[in-house]
Amino acid sequence: MESLRVKKVRLTETGTDFHELTKGFVSIRTRNLFPGSVVPCDLYFPFLHGGQALSLEKALASGDEYTAEFHDKLISHGIQTVYIRKEAEASFSDYFTSKLQQIINSPNTPSEVKTQLIYDDAESIVKKVLRERPDQGNIRLGRRFVNYFAIQLAADEVTADALLVIFSKDYYTFTHMVQVALLGMAFCRFLGWKEDDLKSFGFGALFHDVGKSSIDNAILNKPGKLDADEFDLMKAHPRLGYERVKKTHVMTPDQLSVILHHHEALDGSGYPDGLEGNDISLYARIARIADCFDALTTNRPYKSALPPAKAIKIMTDEMGHTFDRELLARFVQFLGLEEADQPASGLRLQIDLGIKVLLELEKQPEKWNGLLVGMEPERYLIVRVPALAAAKNHLQPGSHTVCRYICRGNVVQFRTKVLGHVLHPVKLLFLKFPSGFQVLNLRKNPRIECFLPADVDIEGRHYPGTLLDISIGGCKFSSRGVSSDISSQLPVGASITLFSTLFSEPSPLPFAGLVRHVEVDRDKFILGIQFERLDGVSHQKLSAFLENMLVLVR
Ligand SMILES: [Fe+2]
Ligand SMILES: [Fe+2]
Repeated sequence: MESLRVKKVRLTETGTDFHELTKGFVSIRTRNLFPGSVVPCDLYFPFLHGGQALSLEKALASGDEYTAEFHDKLISHGIQTVYIRKEAEASFSDYFTSKLQQIINSPNTPSEVKTQLIYDDAESIVKKVLRERPDQGNIRLGRRFVNYFAIQLAADEVTADALLVIFSKDYYTFTHMVQVALLGMAFCRFLGWKEDDLKSFGFGALFHDVGKSSIDNAILNKPGKLDADEFDLMKAHPRLGYERVKKTHVMTPDQLSVILHHHEALDGSGYPDGLEGNDISLYARIARIADCFDALTTNRPYKSALPPAKAIKIMTDEMGHTFDRELLARFVQFLGLEEADQPASGLRLQIDLGIKVLLELEKQPEKWNGLLVGMEPERYLIVRVPALAAAKNHLQPGSHTVCRYICRGNVVQFRTKVLGHVLHPVKLLFLKFPSGFQVLNLRKNPRIECFLPADVDIEGRHYPGTLLDISIGGCKFSSRGVSSDISSQLPVGASITLFSTLFSEPSPLPFAGLVRHVEVDRDKFILGIQFERLDGVSHQKLSAFLENMLVLVR
């Protein structure tokens, strides 16, 4: 067994030769072998010969007993993987399923162990679907996992905690699909869904990215940004998956909508159909949240995992307009992140008395200006509408209206219902306090807040300072220790060049632009700079920097 330990080191360090060696074999987790059972097929372990040549050797033959002693030895040597021949996969699957059934039914097995085994089962099913094809038989296998998991969730509170441990692992596309199904089902349970509904959602979510099996691996795992053509190919995966699974007739329209519409965004900016709001099914809106959170919090070939609180911050602040805000707020509660260092403050409707609002009926050209003059949070808003006498036929109690206003540079929009109105002594409209809302970012380019050293070149003089935020279109720069007449040297519209290393460049890159805003406070000044004619290298490096920082979900 000592040689096995050496071989494990080799396994993790070798690359292509090991892939060659394991062609025709399938890996099995050691924990999926059950002490005291009879092995259903030949088991192979990697052996190292003379310190160099590596081979797979048969260690147990089909029908041998897998003893507790042998199992303990493997575990004590850190051997987590063994191999079986591909042809033996079906018999191993039968062996595993029958054992799994016993374990799930056993009250003595800790819930963590049950959850881990259910997860392994799901992973093997999804792997099979991706490797082979999403036909009726393969997809139906997914029901087995979803059923076990739903039963486990309904029976045991501890499962949710065990899941959080699983979530911290690395994985690839197949595990991502499992994770999204697990996370989504656990979230639906938090929302109060019953077991049958959990199963129904989980079945769709488990195969949400199945269309990726038709996308080239070089694109799926490309380190760095996809070019426009590659991204177009990637964007085909929801429809590819949908069309293939629909043919099998095993999923309901709701379940299929998870596959087709999990990349649709509430503001209509998603794909493949550009649907908006409630035109996107509830299943797909939930799947999008779980999908995005999972993608952000997981290591991928092209990016490292973000901590959950940071992922939620990005989802609420930068991508909030693409999610169902109400569901996102519940998701934050579900994760228990409300008290974390990144509070979900953006999830509360920010509306102050005195704010100007614009009211319109859906799909109608009329718009009415109003002023928010009163409210009872969670119950109603009172808007003074000067043109109410003329508009009252459109704004009858029970009619729906869309209300918009500007808050902190964003357009906030919600759909609400007219509760009633009065015309004397002032024209007031009573609206239901909205249960959800969208925030539409007015800025075309997402901005990264940062604190990076930079300097600006003003008429041949360098001013050292700090880059406060940056986007592809411009930045904000601050500097101290200058004379107060800097504003006269820097009128709005003046040309300026900013230099920054953007963290990792060996020498500062130039960013040419125009001054758009000047703020002077004693010896400190802040400049708003709009980039103009960036040189190719600076543009490319800035795009890569922003891409890395924003970690946009594909
Ligand atoms: Fe996807
Ligand atoms: Fe996904």
